[in-house]
Amino acid sequence: MQSFPAVDPIPLPAPIWLLKLLHIVTLALHFVAVEMLLGGLLLAVLLSLFRGSPASMVTARALARRLTIVMTFVINLAVPPLLFAQVLYGRALYTSSVLIGLYWIAIIGLLMLTYWLLYSFTGRLEAGKSAWWVGLIAWILAGSIARLLSTNMTLMLRPEVWRKMYSASAMGAYLPTGDPTLTPRWLLMMAGGLFIGGLWLIYLSGRSTFTAKEKSFVAVLGSKVAAVFGLIYLGAGVWVALVQPQIVKAGLLVDPLYKYAGFASYGWLALVVCTVLVSAAAGFGKLANVQFSLPSWVAVLLAVLIEIMFTVYRDGVRDLSLLASGYNVWDRVVVTNWWVVGLFLVLFVAGLGVIGWLVSVVARARKVMEGAA
Ligand code: HEM
Repeated sequence: MQSFPAVDPIPLPAPIWLLKLLHIVTLALHFVAVEMLLGGLLLAVLLSLFRGSPASMVTARALARRLTIVMTFVINLAVPPLLFAQVLYGRALYTSSVLIGLYWIAIIGLLMLTYWLLYSFTGRLEAGKSAWWVGLIAWILAGSIARLLSTNMTLMLRPEVWRKMYSASAMGAYLPTGDPTLTPRWLLMMAGGLFIGGLWLIYLSGRSTFTAKEKSFVAVLGSKVAAVFGLIYLGAGVWVALVQPQIVKAGLLVDPLYKYAGFASYGWLALVVCTVLVSAAAGFGKLANVQFSLPSWVAVLLAVLIEIMFTVYRDGVRDLSLLASGYNVWDRVVVTNWWVVGLFLVLFVAGLGVIGWLVSVVARARKVMEGAA
């Protein structure tokens, strides 16, 4: 019996390749922000818990101050891919969202609570109060949101379990278990958090708002975290690929786009890990005393490139899994309205321009030393 609901008779208003391109780019940016949040928060919690040196508290505060801003990027960069995903995969994604409806809708509450706790964490750190436990609760909540998203994104690929789940609970109160791809996929995102968190510290070590000693501390810590968790991220990526059904694994190896995206993402990652390891061994911290903006920007660029490649590969896992169940994302009627597409692209570019302007205003703002009370 066909599990997917009937296709919407209204044709798609733009070419599928364009919708997919926009989906992948915006989703990769969402992932960069998500990883900064998950990794940066855990690092700030650990630094404020162990308080190894004055520099560790300064670093914890520097991360915490930025996390509330990162959260706005997490949310704003989540909406476009959600819309594109609904257009392209609505019949699968709506079904799985309804099946776990209670948990899915709970994300809004969890998100608000996490956001409030982030402000509280930063406020307590600034006031010199014990803050690590507040940050830890926020991190656990953010990790739970990630788990729910992974649950939905894997459930949408398994139409064979939908009917049984609906029979078990039509309330949306039943969370699926038994999908071997779920936990590796969630852990991949969690490990990626600390890898991107480490690269974020390397970026921060180039800021003139840190003293030379603090820069050295931030650079050394960032390089160690990025190197260790880069290896774990790499391992988790291989794990996710290995637990896919045979037909998906075979497709990933044959389709040129996914094959090269896979090579590129693992290759980039391996390159970054090696570079960071070599730099750490060569005394990265000492280098931080001099002008350090090049490695900072390279860290940003690599983080974005790796996430784009991973997102393309992940897209392949989804398309091949759905295809195996009879859902071909390319098989839709398209009637392009070029005026609307043109207007959308103009507004999209204008939106990017406004974000660029906002970033430049922040960059030109009066600098306050991170260690200042
Ligand atoms: C603390 C906040 C958030 C965290 C930690 C988070 C984390 C994640 C993670 C881990 C994934 C990947 C799941 C997987 O494929 O295994 C993901 C995907 C996604 N997130 Fe977020 N997210 C957050 C907020 C949001 C919000 C507020 C929205 C919606 C407005 C959202 C929309 C999405 C969508 C649509 C996807 C998947 C898109 C696709 O596969 O096409 N996220 N997120």
